[in-house]
Amino acid sequence: MADERDLIRSRIDIVELIGQRVNLRKSGKSWKGLCPFHDDTNPSFDVSPESGYYRCWSCGAKGDVFNWVMQTENVDFAEALRILAVQAGVELQRRDRREPSVVEAQEAAMAEAQAFFREQLTKSSAAQEYCAGRGLATDVLDHWEIGYAPDVMGALATHLQKQGHRLAECEKLFLVKGDAGGYDDRFKGRLMFPIRDERGRLVAFGGRVIGDAIPKYINSGDTPLYSKSRVLYGMNFAKESMAKERRAVLVEGFLDVIACHRAGVTNAVASLGTSLAEDHVRLLKRWCDEVVVLYDSDAAGQKAAERACDLLREGGLRVRVALVPQGKDPDTLLRQQGAEAVRKMVEAPLSESAYLLAQLESRVSIDKEEFWDEAAKILARNKKHHEIVGLVDLLAPRYPFTKDQSVARREIERSVRAERSKLRGGGSSSKVQHALRRTGLKGAEAAIIKAILIPELRTEAVAACKESDLFVSAIGRQLAQAVAEEFAQKVPTGAPSTWLPNVHSEELRETLMDLEREVLPHRDLLPLERQTFDEAVARLEGELEERKLDGMRAEALVDLDANRALLERLRAAKGVGPEPPTS
Ligand code: UTP
Ligand code: MN
Repeated sequence: MADERDLIRSRIDIVELIGQRVNLRKSGKSWKGLCPFHDDTNPSFDVSPESGYYRCWSCGAKGDVFNWVMQTENVDFAEALRILAVQAGVELQRRDRREPSVVEAQEAAMAEAQAFFREQLTKSSAAQEYCAGRGLATDVLDHWEIGYAPDVMGALATHLQKQGHRLAECEKLFLVKGDAGGYDDRFKGRLMFPIRDERGRLVAFGGRVIGDAIPKYINSGDTPLYSKSRVLYGMNFAKESMAKERRAVLVEGFLDVIACHRAGVTNAVASLGTSLAEDHVRLLKRWCDEVVVLYDSDAAGQKAAERACDLLREGGLRVRVALVPQGKDPDTLLRQQGAEAVRKMVEAPLSESAYLLAQLESRVSIDKEEFWDEAAKILARNKKHHEIVGLVDLLAPRYPFTKDQSVARREIERSVRAERSKLRGGGSSSKVQHALRRTGLKGAEAAIIKAILIPELRTEAVAACKESDLFVSAIGRQLAQAVAEEFAQKVPTGAPSTWLPNVHSEELRETLMDLEREVLPHRDLLPLERQTFDEAVARLEGELEERKLDGMRAEALVDLDANRALLERLRAAKGVGPEPPTS
């Protein structure tokens, strides 16, 4: 056991393994990147090929290749061992040679059912004709392993039993259903889509009726192998391009996923027979930073899209929305207009606000006051001031109640402000407070406080702490203030052990002692600490400038001239300019 572990550890390159998900840059002997376990803005995540460990000095996540797989793939140690053993080409000793485990028996029954459905497709001309009619050629059927459940009572049940599977167990897997008369199949007369989890394990099925009967789809309910709120269809194929592009495309159904992949949009996935759930969002978050939502253009699709956007955004993902032509979905689009049309739709997604405005315009005439009332509500909910400014720019020329653009702009801005103050009445500030408390000390803030422990950096660190505006987290501000007060007269020299116990503020003393435990073993790494410190100060200064710009943006909504000045300043500032207008 220990041997297997060591062997795997020696064969897996931790930098390569983690590099599949995190952009790592070489820095001295180790590799650095943004920590995937917290909302990191300054690379605080460290991977050391020498020790075989990763570590985030900001949030404290750390471990070896096994911990990495356990943390990122949400699996227990035994499963992590299996996954890495395969990658390392290490054959694991079986610890239990007696009965196949319950899970193995379940997986075998699912595989048997899958083989049966595949076989049946070759025997059913009705099913094959249906596939042909929908443009599903053999290569597509093979890639997605699509099968057919015959419309014969108990066909699968009989087959499974013959192959030695216990039907009581198969019932738990949503393959068959038993009553007094015996077992019947769950899926009959349906095209079968196997549903695999991100690692490719067969966990469920979706069955589409051939023709127009109701219900159109039947999907496996939750089973010991499957939780529908945790699995996204297509994830096993999509995850690689998702990780590479850091972006996913979220569509509604089986055939939409398949159509997207066929069109070259290989990062498309769908939640199935259920609306998007928080667990889905968490799954996506592990593989990407941005999601393009691409739902049907009908009312139900729109509603679902808006809900999905909220959930994704709250889960910390950037959200964009693809505008789908009326009455189309990726599947119909691919068949009627070809792959290029599907790709175009995905490549030009709108910001949420722009999307909502486009939707609004398709519902309500832009000449009506109702449009402008609703538009103000949409803009007021947007927290990105530069987006608002850009959208007001786009809207003002279309304002129907005056020809004077500056008047139009002022009118729009006035109603956005009014809506915003209504929203503020809702007491959102306590939520912000809460978020801050939960996040605690930011990485860059910690780096500066930590530098107090290092004699060579101490004076500069104290000076940075005196710039209290630099610190944003509640705890960060508190600590910076404590440092400023503590060392107002004189900055101590020498090793922390000589002065640290005498620090008055308990909060500061405790924090510094905690940090000291991290710093001491690395005393020989001063150049690295210097670099980290400099980067931390630069980052906080950059953020302070951003906040000032944000303040200006907010004011720009009040004052037209300031608005122009801001636009110019934004355009001049690198990386914070308004997004190019999309529409
Ligand atoms: P749609 O009705 O849009 O179906 O449902 P579709 O995927 O476009 O399929 P075709 O093109 O009509 O054959 C979207 C998704 O919602 C789920 C399925 O996952 C489907 O792919 N759904 C739909 C169900 O679970 N049950 C249903 O009865 C209908
Ligand atoms: Mn469809």
